[in-house]
Amino acid sequence: MKVEDLIEEGVREILRSRKAKFYEDLSEVRLRMGLNENFLVDKFFSHTILMEAAQGIDVRKYPVTKGGRALEAISEELGIWEDELIVGNGSDEILDLVAKVFVGRGEALIVDPTFEMYKFYVGLSGGSVRSVLTDEDFEMYGDSVLSAVSEKTKAIFICSPNNPTGRQYQKDEVLKVVEGFEGIVVLDEAYVDFAPYALTMEAPKYANLLVLRTFSKAYGLAGLRIGYGVGNSDLIKWLRSAQSPFSVNSVAQEACKLVLKNRRVYEAFIKMVVEEREYLMAELEMINGVKAYPSCANFILVRVIDPTVPSSEVCESLRREGIEVRDRGELPLLKNCFRVTVGKREDNLKFVDALKRVLGGE
Ligand SMILES: Cc1ncc(COP(=O)(O)O)c(C=O)c1O
Repeated sequence: MKVEDLIEEGVREILRSRKAKFYEDLSEVRLRMGLNENFLVDKFFSHTILMEAAQGIDVRKYPVTKGGRALEAISEELGIWEDELIVGNGSDEILDLVAKVFVGRGEALIVDPTFEMYKFYVGLSGGSVRSVLTDEDFEMYGDSVLSAVSEKTKAIFICSPNNPTGRQYQKDEVLKVVEGFEGIVVLDEAYVDFAPYALTMEAPKYANLLVLRTFSKAYGLAGLRIGYGVGNSDLIKWLRSAQSPFSVNSVAQEACKLVLKNRRVYEAFIKMVVEEREYLMAELEMINGVKAYPSCANFILVRVIDPTVPSSEVCESLRREGIEVRDRGELPLLKNCFRVTVGKREDNLKFVDALKRVLGGE
């Protein structure tokens, strides 16, 4: 008996195709610019938040169920009712719940090129994914998404600002999809704190819109695992009933409260990211061998112009210099592209220097 024969075929394929190596190898890396973490949030400030959060709890006890402490704080901060909110172990957990509860063995549409985890969770739940491509400028049009809907389509995943293109879609185009579709629309706003506008507050007005947010990016709490979803109370009720009770740990819940209490401080960190992004963009625009795409997130998509120099090789060469960026060249429309996370000024400069060396063959 082979254990792998015990795994359902569809699930086995998904697990096989997973490139887990990227996450495992990061210990060697000096500059992490591949996972859209946020090192512009001050390390010592984060540490103070963490220590204070830890002091407020008794780890012998299970956490308050369903992220209840964080739920109260988010509800108060956003002015959204608690029953219109779900808190998860990262927004990843909520994506997983959506796949299980609303897609199941049905079909989901994704607007490609996009975040790969939608495919992963839907596939693991036994569902299938079909992609609708953006145009060449990575713009999404509501009509073309709606025209791809079939009888089997249970959910549509839209990421805006989109990972990895950095493009924030027009409000009207997103709402056109929400209004024209009978199933669930997941609008993943993981990076929206760095963008001009958010649709989060619109979510409870619609029966079928779930907006996802995270504390991993703008608030630099990726290691704590906390995110949330906003939607109509009926939609949220079903998701919450599928959630395991203790998935959001006590420290994360307390830290979330503290972070929101210190929101002004984080707004300054967010401003720094946006300024640094524009600085990095300007630097990249001065390099002949690449095209950088304008971004509304904390990363920039970069295309290597010379088709004989694959982005995978550029990423590998940067890695040898101790800099991790994320090759995205295999995603639809992204031939020869990689994604770089905006870092601190000195790190951005190290990256730019290394990239020039790698492209110049020095
Ligand atoms: C678009 C998008 N959504 C969701 C997530 C997951 O975020 P979290 O850390 O809250 O699970 C990420 C993480 O990279 C992301 O890029």
